Amino acid sequence: MNIEEWEEYQLITDAMEDMISSMDDSSQMKAIVGHICRSGGKMVRPIMLILASRICGGDPDRSTNAALAIELIHSASLIHDDILDEGIMRRGVESAHKKFGPAAAMLAGDYMISKSIELISSYDTPVVREFGRAGMAMAEGETIDIKSTNGTFEDSNYFDCINKKTASLFAASAAMGAYIADADETTAELFRDYGEKLGIAYQIVDDLLEYTETSEDKRSYHESVSILQIYRKGMKREEAVQKATNVAIEYVDMAKNILANFEPSDAKDKLLKITDYITIEMIPEL
Ligand code: IPE
Ligand code: MG
Repeated sequence: MNIEEWEEYQLITDAMEDMISSMDDSSQMKAIVGHICRSGGKMVRPIMLILASRICGGDPDRSTNAALAIELIHSASLIHDDILDEGIMRRGVESAHKKFGPAAAMLAGDYMISKSIELISSYDTPVVREFGRAGMAMAEGETIDIKSTNGTFEDSNYFDCINKKTASLFAASAAMGAYIADADETTAELFRDYGEKLGIAYQIVDDLLEYTETSEDKRSYHESVSILQIYRKGMKREEAVQKATNVAIEYVDMAKNILANFEPSDAKDKLLKITDYITIEMIPEL
């Protein structure tokens, strides 16, 4: 699947380029923001936002700024995560703090979060609220994550952690898309639930890739405890991998079932495609 050819992807990368080129050149900020924003992220969250909005009858042009805000806060969270985890490679390139130093990288993350707030400020309250709450949840999730190696990390802690650090932004992206298209709260809740289920599946797959050492574009010194290490305590390695795979697939199915509430459309078709693309299609060969 060539996501880079999707019009939604183009819309976001164009907006991103416009933003970077309008930045002041005198500080290092432009270079650091450019480094992370041009390093080839899949743009799945902002694409989800635009597609959710389209399914609810919204115009993609109206959701572009919110989509950009989502990608900026996501990218900022990756910069901050790489500082926390001593990540050395991200999206196949040197991590921001390795290249520019931790102080400059941290400040670039702050800048991007602030820029995202500016972008989101012109939307209605439900959109802004979803956005703010996701940012809070992501930071909380990371604090759970950094304590995951303390020896008492169980299933329930893991699911709480990934719900907050990863699924919250997927959930917010989908719900925000619905709200931007003036969908009612029930509809927005369906999208938020879809995003949450997908986000959980996505993080489990990401952890599977790390555990089986299949991921090639990301490397760090510190590794958090994931569901694989938790399952591995009571079973063989292959069984743990199989069990985690099954759980991820269950969440993908739950996500897709929620989308069954909506009429067939091009946008829904794409949302289903992206659901598989970042989960089922990424699962390592057993
Ligand atoms: C990476 O997210 C961080 C996780 C939540 C696992 P993505 O895999 O969406 O990162 P990019 O934006 O495509 O690089
Ligand atoms: Mg981490």
